[in-house]
Amino acid sequence: STVPVLAIDGPSGSGKGTVAKRVAEALGWHLLDSGALYRAVGLLALDRGIPLDDADALAALALRLPISFQPAGEGVSVHLEGRPRDADLRTEDTGAAASAVAAVPAVRDALLARQRDFRQAPGLVADGRDMGTVVFPDAPYKVYLTASAEERAQRRHKQLMEKGVATTLAALLEEIQARDARDMGRSVAPLKAADDALRIDSTGMSIGQVVKAVLDHVVLHG
Ligand code: C5P
Repeated sequence: STVPVLAIDGPSGSGKGTVAKRVAEALGWHLLDSGALYRAVGLLALDRGIPLDDADALAALALRLPISFQPAGEGVSVHLEGRPRDADLRTEDTGAAASAVAAVPAVRDALLARQRDFRQAPGLVADGRDMGTVVFPDAPYKVYLTASAEERAQRRHKQLMEKGVATTLAALLEEIQARDARDMGRSVAPLKAADDALRIDSTGMSIGQVVKAVLDHVVLHG
């Protein structure tokens, strides 16, 4: 395909999601939140009582995943089986289920074509763990966004406090480290930077500074 892709990969809490959204808006490109697909498989498996290690049943679910992205206000609402499920998709339980189903190779294969369908003119910003390495290896623009685990835990803590959810920094740090280990240690499509990715460590940077660095990368290389 000649449609340009900007792949943004990195661990959870690195700010990828927000950065990808802002950069897509600035460029006027489409946006793929690939984590939402894995979360959808995880959530529907929990709903339906499908064991998180039943590769055949999970792959069948992923192949005909009943997901759609509906415009809602400024952003999008994720619908499963025709119903909005945004809040359920964002819970820690769904994140853990997503991480488990994401380790099943047949699930990743089943989601490949679906993700590549998002590559539509004038361009695509794709946010995930393996956008630059597996799904869009030919992407002309690749960014690997990180931040220290401590900083990511602090950001999450602040978000949760603002929502009135009580947690401790120590518990969040432990959760983030466990998720990193799972995502980086798995044998299929482990989280790692593509060789040709621009690495940005956002520790101590504002979202605005990261957005600018990513936009500069696309504009200066295009
Ligand atoms: O980014 P998000 O937290 O929504 O992703 C949820 C989980 O889905 C991640 O922890 C990861 O295990 C998995 N995932 C993945 N590959 C992607 C996107 C997400 O394995 N491209």
